[in-house]
Amino acid sequence: MNGVTVVDHPLVQHKLTIMRDKETSTASFRRLLREISLLLCYEVTRELDLTTRTIETPLMPMEAPTLEGKKLVFASVLRAGNGLLDGMLDLVPAARVAHIGLYRDHDTLEAVEYFFKAPGDLEDRLVIVVDPMLATANSAIAAVDKLKQRGATNLRFLCLLAAPEGIERFTSAHPDVPVFTASIDEKLNEKGYIVPGLGDAGDRMYGTK
Ligand code: URA
Repeated sequence: MNGVTVVDHPLVQHKLTIMRDKETSTASFRRLLREISLLLCYEVTRELDLTTRTIETPLMPMEAPTLEGKKLVFASVLRAGNGLLDGMLDLVPAARVAHIGLYRDHDTLEAVEYFFKAPGDLEDRLVIVVDPMLATANSAIAAVDKLKQRGATNLRFLCLLAAPEGIERFTSAHPDVPVFTASIDEKLNEKGYIVPGLGDAGDRMYGTK
């Protein structure tokens, strides 16, 4: 699919299978999500630009590669986004963080915003929006709308699972935002869940119902 990268690394797929299993405990689910987020973060940052700086190794000076430009922003769509965020910050500790509070109205499935906090200079930064489930795409579209209103022009969207319907809606609304996911599942069900999916990511992560 255009603009969509499926991260099919065997470790990602193996961990994802354990996460989908309904017998997997909250503690294991959380640990696996953190592990998988490192691998997904590796892929979503693959094309980052490098420059060089002069350092001295114990043996000699060298021009060594280093990331170019301003620090990245990871934008977490609350609350499930935080499950991906934690591992990503392990890998890129200097990244800035935006939090976007959106909940899904259970009747309309529309995204309702209740919180937004982001670094001020989004226009100069790569913003990676994280939310484990790209289902109806209502929250993803609303999160990216808001970040664009606040000046972001260079964005990527990272999730764990996507529904074909969600990808279709998201890429129509934001064709300039590449999507990275570990799997494109079969479909959305009538309640807006991804099937076969893994259930409610926030509930599985935090042991709520
Ligand atoms: N959000 C979830 O947590 N799970 C789904 O299947 C869809 C949306």
